[in-house]
Amino acid sequence: MNKDYAPLFESYTLPNGEVIRNRIIMAPMTNYSSNPDGSVTDEEISYYRRRAEGVGAIITAVANITPGGKGFPGEIGVDRDELIPSLSKLATAIKSKGAKAILQIFHAGRLAPEDLLPNGDVVAPSNIPAERAGTINPRPRELTVEEIDDIIKAFGDATRRAMEAGFDGVEIHGANGYLIQQFFSPHANRREDTYGGSVEKRMTFPLKVIDEVQKTVKQYGDASFIVGYRFSPEEPETPGITMGQTLQLVDRLADKGLDYLHVSLMDFWSKARREADTTKTRIELLLKQINKRVPLIGVGSIYQADDAKAAMKTGVEFLALGRELVMDPEWAKKIQEGKEDTIVTTLDTTKKDELDVPEPLWNIITSVPGWFPGIAKNYFLCRTIN
Ligand SMILES: Cc1cc2nc3c(=O)[nH]c(=O)nc-3n(C[C@H](O)[C@H](O)[C@H](O)COP(=O)(O)O)c2cc1C
Repeated sequence: MNKDYAPLFESYTLPNGEVIRNRIIMAPMTNYSSNPDGSVTDEEISYYRRRAEGVGAIITAVANITPGGKGFPGEIGVDRDELIPSLSKLATAIKSKGAKAILQIFHAGRLAPEDLLPNGDVVAPSNIPAERAGTINPRPRELTVEEIDDIIKAFGDATRRAMEAGFDGVEIHGANGYLIQQFFSPHANRREDTYGGSVEKRMTFPLKVIDEVQKTVKQYGDASFIVGYRFSPEEPETPGITMGQTLQLVDRLADKGLDYLHVSLMDFWSKARREADTTKTRIELLLKQINKRVPLIGVGSIYQADDAKAAMKTGVEFLALGRELVMDPEWAKKIQEGKEDTIVTTLDTTKKDELDVPEPLWNIITSVPGWFPGIAKNYFLCRTIN
């Protein structure tokens, strides 16, 4: 291996004492490939097993914690105990290659498609539809306080299932416009009770979810279980989450005893949009705010070994790779073997089987413009993931 890339392959000890063997993490990517009941398919298992070989950890596609929180067809389910054996197959496959297995858990809130939910009941902090170009945005029903309490509890139940299934950890998905982010968002959350109002009050739901997940881990008595939190730094809407608000949230999150924070970006080098120093990258601002209290995972268009080298120099503890590992499952191994020149950075549409990509994921990524390199840019996606 070229010694310039050695920092990518140093192990790292998380705050809870768990050791991640290197700094490359597979980013969570919805793959639309689970069975309609939420159980995983053999195709998904081989897709993950293949990619687990070179990375430190895999954060799975997002899994819904309640039936009413389902966000995609073919989503992994963690909403019922009967799914534990299926989840266990997934955790075992990932761990068999030495990577940590982390299940991403969420509730889609107002971004859930009506036809996937019991009685088409789309819920959110307030009855404000999302502004998502190119999609049908139902007007959601405002959650009652009792329902909010139930959802918080469901995050704990989902964590227990992940533990029983043998996962090494969970990532709380507070990013990409889903329910947890909706509570923090001044666009989605217009409540006037304890869950809404000031920035501080809009943090109530995310912080309670973290408390519930951590309480569950404690009750289960497994201190080695990893709990991470993902967030999106800014929303494009007005009103919408600003970088300044996110820095306040991150300041709180950094003292919550989490094992890592994970920012969701399409471009690792993107700059703050508003209410912060807009000449600085979001990563720089976040690292400064966190001040080494908790490790940070950075992400976004890190295609080549040299991109990763430069990204690590910013001081982030980990790099997540999403599309890169779909296009080239051997991305990390190639660098380790000194073959970084052979890394594939565009989707070769003739190689579905060779790449071990499940059919439903393949069909989507080869048909949505702009998602993967080589196809015209899709404005809508870039807008929603940031
Ligand atoms: C097909 C696909 C599905 C995604 N699904 C999720 C998801 O379930 N949860 C999530 O937090 N982010 C999701 N993302 C965002 C990625 O985790 C990542 O932040 C983004 O792709 C940028 O990283 P990359 O440039 O390495 O691909 C998805 C991205 C892609 C391409």
